Amino acid sequence: MSEIIDGKAFADQLSEKLTKEVAALKSELSLQPCIAVVLVGDDPASHVYVKNKVKRCEQLGIRSIEHRMEESTSQQDLLALIASLNENSDVHGILVQLPVPEHIDDKAVLAAIDPTKDVDGFHVQNMGALAVGEPGMVPCTPLGSLMLLKSVLPELSGKHAVIVGRSNIVGKPMALLLLQQHCTVTIVHSRTIDIEAHCRRADILVAAVGIPHFIKADWVKPGAVVIDVGINRIVEDGKSRLVGDVDFDAVRPKTSAITPVPGGVGPMTIACLMHNTIAAAKAQHQQS
Ligand code: GUN
Repeated sequence: MSEIIDGKAFADQLSEKLTKEVAALKSELSLQPCIAVVLVGDDPASHVYVKNKVKRCEQLGIRSIEHRMEESTSQQDLLALIASLNENSDVHGILVQLPVPEHIDDKAVLAAIDPTKDVDGFHVQNMGALAVGEPGMVPCTPLGSLMLLKSVLPELSGKHAVIVGRSNIVGKPMALLLLQQHCTVTIVHSRTIDIEAHCRRADILVAAVGIPHFIKADWVKPGAVVIDVGINRIVEDGKSRLVGDVDFDAVRPKTSAITPVPGGVGPMTIACLMHNTIAAAKAQHQQS
């Protein structure tokens, strides 16, 4: 039997724990974790993501400050805002929603964020810390994916994990996290020869390519655990809906456990963002 991993229930449980932690920080230390969320431009998906993040903050008692900037905002103005948020000791976390408009260099933006406030874990200092096993902010989607994976497969040592996709946001940090867990890790990508053959050897298959239904049933080893990171909007029979990178209905019977879309990794990304924001607030409070 294949288990559908309920990411929403897991995220709700984690959020309940975090809500209590925020309440304790407020009453014991007069500390309210605070995140600044910066959104530049009109990307409709980004607006939905930011709205969901801000709503979750409210539910947990985390303060959120939204900065919405015009599509035409200059890189200089965005960097000036980040500099002021870096300086503001009331702000513990800074998140610039990606993608930023094309005329802005996203690498320069991420590099400008104080690494201790980088709740996305995208700064090279945090990515470097992850690579060498030092403490730092861990990117939210890979962290949430790992939590879901461990909920069905507590012992990962020696397992062969295949990650489909090599993005800085998911594929690469996921590979580093799984290496820390003593997995044998393969990353496949658009230039890989015979992706299917690699996937068929996976005990753990992580799909993060952003292509609807990319992973087919005959690519999956019987009994594998499949983590679907994709969130793709498709229109079928005139109706719009979200699907993952995995052909869920066909793949599910081959697996021992699989995450659905929606309701799998997505809710965990936001819960882990809350986790990182609280961790940042605590670390900054200790430093002050
Ligand atoms: N765009 C898509 N995913 C993410 C994310 O996790 N963080 C940010 N900042 N932007 C994104």
